[in-house]
Amino acid sequence: NNTVLTDDFGRKHNYLRISLIEKCNLRCTYCMPADGIVLSPKASLMTADEIHAIAQTFVNNGVDKIRLTGGEPLLRKDFPEIIAKLASLQTEISITTNGILINKHIDVLKQFNVKKINLSLDTLVASKFHSITLRNQFQSVIDNLHLLVNNDFKIKVNVVLIKGFNDDEIIDFIKLTEFLPISIRFIEFMPFAGNEWDKSKMVSQKEILDLVTNNFPESHLEKLEDDKNFTAREFKIKNYLGSFGIISSITNPFCDGCNRIRLTANGKIKNCLFSNSETDLLTPFRNGEAIEDLIAFAIKNKKKVRAGMTTIEDVNNPALNQDNRSMIAIGG
Ligand code: GTP
Ligand code: 5AD
Ligand code: SF4
Repeated sequence: NNTVLTDDFGRKHNYLRISLIEKCNLRCTYCMPADGIVLSPKASLMTADEIHAIAQTFVNNGVDKIRLTGGEPLLRKDFPEIIAKLASLQTEISITTNGILINKHIDVLKQFNVKKINLSLDTLVASKFHSITLRNQFQSVIDNLHLLVNNDFKIKVNVVLIKGFNDDEIIDFIKLTEFLPISIRFIEFMPFAGNEWDKSKMVSQKEILDLVTNNFPESHLEKLEDDKNFTAREFKIKNYLGSFGIISSITNPFCDGCNRIRLTANGKIKNCLFSNSETDLLTPFRNGEAIEDLIAFAIKNKKKVRAGMTTIEDVNNPALNQDNRSMIAIGG
C-alpha cells in the first residue's frame, strides 16, 4: 500500500530519516546557532519503543530505507536498543554521524547490519576542524574513518563547503579517494535558523566542477550514474578507488526524485528539509490515535520544489525563506 506515501507529483516516499536527538558533541557553526537552541523537553522526545512503533507504520506503508540522524545519533544512550528494535523491521538502516563515537558503537553497527555510514568532515586540517566545530576531535574522527574503512563499511564523507574556509581543500579531498574506497560529497551551504547563511558564502556546483576540470585532465574525470533518488551527482577520477559527488540543493535542486520524509526527535513529520510546516505524530500516537491519515496529510501538502522556493532568488528572499528549525534539530 503506497497511497499514503505518494504525493501529488507521483513521488513515492520510501526513505524515512529519523532524528534521534537534538544534542551534539560538536558545535559546527553552519548547523548549530552560536547561542545554542532551545532543546525540546526530554518527555517530548520519542522513546526507543515509540521510534520503533512509528517507524513500523511507515514501513507498513512502503518505507524500505531508514536513516538515523541527529544532532549526533550516537549520543543517544539507548542507541543499541533503538537499532535492535529497528532491525526487526527488515529495512535498510543507515546513519549520518560526526564519527566521534563510532569506535564505541562499531560492534552494534556490525551486529545489526548497518553498513552505510555518512560521516561529516569538513576539513583535513586539525586547526580548521577546531574553528568550524569548536571542539578538538579531529584525530578521533580521522581514526574512526579509517576504522570504518578497514571494517568494510560503505562510507560517504559529507563536506559542507564555505567560501574562504575550506574551498581550498576540494582537490585534497578528491585526492583522498585515490587510495580510499570512499565517496566524498561536496555540499552547497544551505540556510537554516541561526546559521548566518549568505549566498556569497556558498560554493556552487559550477565552481566545484570548474576547479576539478582545472586540476585534473579532462580525460581523467568520469561521470558516474546517479542513484534514482540521488542527492549527490557523482563523479570519479579514473583509476581512483573512491569517488566524489556534489549536493547542489541551492543551485541545482533534485526535488523531482525526492523520496524522503523526515521525523524529528520530538515526533513531528517534516515533508521537506526546507519546510517549517510540521505535522505532530507523537502526541496523537501517545493518545492512542491512528497516525496514517496524518502521514498522508503531510505528504499531500508537500511542495514540488524546496517547500515552495523554486528559484535561487526565492531561497535568498527572507520573505519566502521560511523560519525553519536549525539544522541540528532537523538532522539534514
Ligand atoms: P544517502 O542516503 O546516502 O543518499 O545520503 P543523503 O545524502 O541523503 O544524506 P546525508 O545525511 O548524508 O546528507 C548529506 C547532505 O545532503 C546534507 O547536507 C543534507 O542536508 C542533504 N540532504 C539530505 N537529504 C536531503 C533532501 O532530501 N533534500 C535536500 N535538499 N538535501 C538533502
Ligand atoms: N548546509 C548544508 N549541509 C549541512 N549539514 C549541516 N548543516 C548544513 C548546512 N547548513 C550537513 C552536515 C551533515 C548532514 C546531515 O547535513 O554536514 O553531514
Ligand atoms: Fe525533497 Fe525538499 Fe530536499 Fe527537495 S528540498 S529534495 S523536496 S526534501
